[in-house]
Amino acid sequence: TRTLIVAGEAFPLAKTGGLGDAITGMARALAQAGMPLTVMLPAYRGVRARLGRVRVVASLHNLPGGDARLLAGRCPQSGLDFLLLENDALYDRPGIYLDEQGREYADSALRYAALAHAAVRVAGGLPGILRPDLLHAHDWHAGLVPLLLRAHGLRDTRSIMTIHNLAFQGRFPMAVAATLGIPERYRGDDCAAAGGQLNFLKAGIRCADRVTTVSHTYAREIMTPAFGCGLEDLLRRRAQDLLPIPNGIDTMLWNPARDPHLGTLRFSFRDLSNKSRCKAVLQREFGLRVERGTTLMAMGSRLTEQKMADVAVQTLPEALERYPDLQVAILGQGDHRLEHDLQALAQRYPGRCAAHIGYDEPAAHRLHAGADILLHASRFEPFGLTPLYAMRYGALPIGSRVGGMADTIEDPGPAAPLSAMASANGLLFDGDSSDAMGGAIARAMLLREHAMLWRTMQGNAMRADFGWRSAIGLYARLYRSLAVAGTRDVA
Ligand code: ADP
Ligand code: GLC
Repeated sequence: TRTLIVAGEAFPLAKTGGLGDAITGMARALAQAGMPLTVMLPAYRGVRARLGRVRVVASLHNLPGGDARLLAGRCPQSGLDFLLLENDALYDRPGIYLDEQGREYADSALRYAALAHAAVRVAGGLPGILRPDLLHAHDWHAGLVPLLLRAHGLRDTRSIMTIHNLAFQGRFPMAVAATLGIPERYRGDDCAAAGGQLNFLKAGIRCADRVTTVSHTYAREIMTPAFGCGLEDLLRRRAQDLLPIPNGIDTMLWNPARDPHLGTLRFSFRDLSNKSRCKAVLQREFGLRVERGTTLMAMGSRLTEQKMADVAVQTLPEALERYPDLQVAILGQGDHRLEHDLQALAQRYPGRCAAHIGYDEPAAHRLHAGADILLHASRFEPFGLTPLYAMRYGALPIGSRVGGMADTIEDPGPAAPLSAMASANGLLFDGDSSDAMGGAIARAMLLREHAMLWRTMQGNAMRADFGWRSAIGLYARLYRSLAVAGTRDVA
């Protein structure tokens, strides 16, 4: 099966969060397993240059948003083959999704409809480009791909829709559907419409041959009203075709023993002495008091309600008051109000709490390397790569029992005897109350007093196998099963 992966991000060419990591990680692992594949991405500003040598392989006329070109090239870091969709009017902008004020670009619908049309033209056959027999669409950005395959009668091309985050659906007024090249018969409630609006992700879920999502727990959650974001009924109807395939992490990029971002201070579970040096580096970098005996708790994520940054704002002051040895280092960006609240908190506790607002990949590596704990609370978490990165670097996560974190973080719970924590690799709490978060921090602070037990937990975390291997087996099987399946039945 030749696969075209269609997505809005792929590390290191374009990344705003875990999606970029997941696309590249999955594609590399599949390619290494011998699957022929190409990744299609918009040629956002700077991406073309980062690919090095590119060839123009096609000119595409009459796409939504105007004429465009397809550029082919190989990413020097990942070794993956890319097709970039170039249309400077749509993609040559300072941000990937957001303008400099943090507002989503007003023509998002056009930008990603063009991407989907381009992918479907490739599937239809373009001279000089090998024709894929499977289109693997990721998140709402590629949501129109399965619909357009049908609309263009490409019945031999299979499609998979992978959900990384159901909260982002790509909802637009139905009035734009004509401009986006969505034929009238696909604009109804039985296809692209949801609540009177055009909905890219719904269209993808509805029209794809198979739907996957990135953890077992999230796959169950999204069939319920609490997590389904309005699409729970559709997802339940497609339950037979909805497959959980948990992500992995790139164990080469996120490896404390080889990480170039740590300079000479690399470490492994056998010798953690450099981890304490990384802690001092982090303390200095964030302007925290440079002391060995503290418990350094990091937060590194998008600062949004998904990530419970609002609950952290409420909970952290109490924790800082209660535990004089606790330090907090925050790296993130997101909602301006939450950024502001966390900065204000840092000002109240100089030397003990610091907030770096911004997006900084190397700093994220140093954050995990220097931290003892990662506070990573989420109201929902489709997978949650960050806690796994932290674990590899010996920072134990405090997560919430949702989505992928419920599957990857092992915690016998507060009712179990302390000794049972010898099998844990982190801590979990339920719900989104400040009490629950505070309770989990208190448990972690108690465990910190049991150095042997802590070290055992660190070993569990650092040695756990969260690589891509099992996911690749599942994707490979899915790809193969689609390749042998008969003609597409139009649902
Ligand atoms: P999500 O995709 O929901 O944001 P994940 O935990 O799966 O959550 O992935 C987040 C990714 O984005 C991780 O690679 C994390 O290191 C990165 N990240 C998030 N915020 C920042 C930031 N401010 N600076 C650097 N990396 C960040
Ligand atoms: C999304 C989710 C995150 C997941 C990532 C990669 O951004 O919020 O939980 O890890 O996609 O699948």
